[in-house]
Amino acid sequence: MPRPIEALIHVPALAHNLARARASAPDAKVWAVVKANAYGHGIEHAFEGLRSADGFALLDLDEAQAIRRLGWRGPILLLEGCFETRDLELCSRLKLWHAVHCEQQIDWLAMHKTHEPHRVFLKLNSGMNRLGFTPSAFRAAWHRLNALPQVDEISLMTHFSDADAQRLGGDGIAHQLAAFEAIAADLPGERSLSNSAATLRHTGRLKEKLSSDWVRAGIMSYGGVPDFPEHDAAHWDLRPAMTLRSKIIGVQQLQPGDTVGYGSSFTATQAMRIGIVACGYADGYPRHAGSGTPILVDGQRTTTVGRVSMDMLAVDLTALPQAESSGWGSEVTLWGNGPKGSVLPIDEVARAAGTIGYELMCALARRVPVTVQHLE
Ligand SMILES: Cc1ncc(COP(=O)(O)O)c(C=O)c1O
Repeated sequence: MPRPIEALIHVPALAHNLARARASAPDAKVWAVVKANAYGHGIEHAFEGLRSADGFALLDLDEAQAIRRLGWRGPILLLEGCFETRDLELCSRLKLWHAVHCEQQIDWLAMHKTHEPHRVFLKLNSGMNRLGFTPSAFRAAWHRLNALPQVDEISLMTHFSDADAQRLGGDGIAHQLAAFEAIAADLPGERSLSNSAATLRHTGRLKEKLSSDWVRAGIMSYGGVPDFPEHDAAHWDLRPAMTLRSKIIGVQQLQPGDTVGYGSSFTATQAMRIGIVACGYADGYPRHAGSGTPILVDGQRTTTVGRVSMDMLAVDLTALPQAESSGWGSEVTLWGNGPKGSVLPIDEVARAAGTIGYELMCALARRVPVTVQHLE
């Protein structure tokens, strides 16, 4: 009998969330961002739920190959472009579109022998200072690309650093959007500016600008909230695409003064009953989630107690009447959908661990068996 832990991937939730991206940017095409093995969901599973996207955006060539193997003939965008010159051969063969963010990538293109002219997304560093040409170098890069026979079409992109936050009283994106508009106003080509936060948060005239021509829906496709806790999944009508669940494999009755787990970080101040859950940091549950992290037992909310260890963690069963007689074998929802319509948003668990839902999804461990759910 394997350990009772498993991850469920909810295909209908992926489709629902993608529809939410479309509804938020009705005039745009939607890239489903499936980098990092589809944010930990498994690229094949994510593809099932996201196949009505207009394209798939990712980083790794093997992930691009996987999407082609699944039969996808539409656009695939390499968000970081090529990492070395020979990657261009695969781009030609698989018809991959690729970001161009630095001079080296243009040099490689200029030397590339191909009968298949490439579609590229020229990236502006509009203020995040991660990848991209500075505003002063951007137009020269565009002209260089435009002169290459290897290049067929040039689209323009940038990435926002603060789309999820109010910043300095502004809207988080104003300075970067202004930089992009100033430099790109009279350049032809499609645009791709917005991640999930920028897609969801803006309305009116600003939305029009942000939603042309492609939006890049990452975290929202998986039901994660880009601007939690300001907004939650219910606010944006997003559904969890991943559930992590397990069972209680042991029960302990504590007396006042008893401690729990490594480092004895939790001490009972009253008699209490705790359950030991088959889930630990080696499964991808965050070790930094301290006592008090929300968790569901048989669909009811309670909290963790003590430190998370490699394979186990403890939950407080004291206030759960249905678990009173035993608790042993009860279903535990670490995040996602619980029984009887209950839900524990991954964002809440992430917050308790001082991180973001993105990190928890991506960290789901290989040892956790995955079941794909095709029905609601
Ligand atoms: C260039 C780029 N575009 C889009 C995304 C998707 O962002 P999000 O998951 O916040 O929607 C990412 C993710 O980090 C990214 O790096």
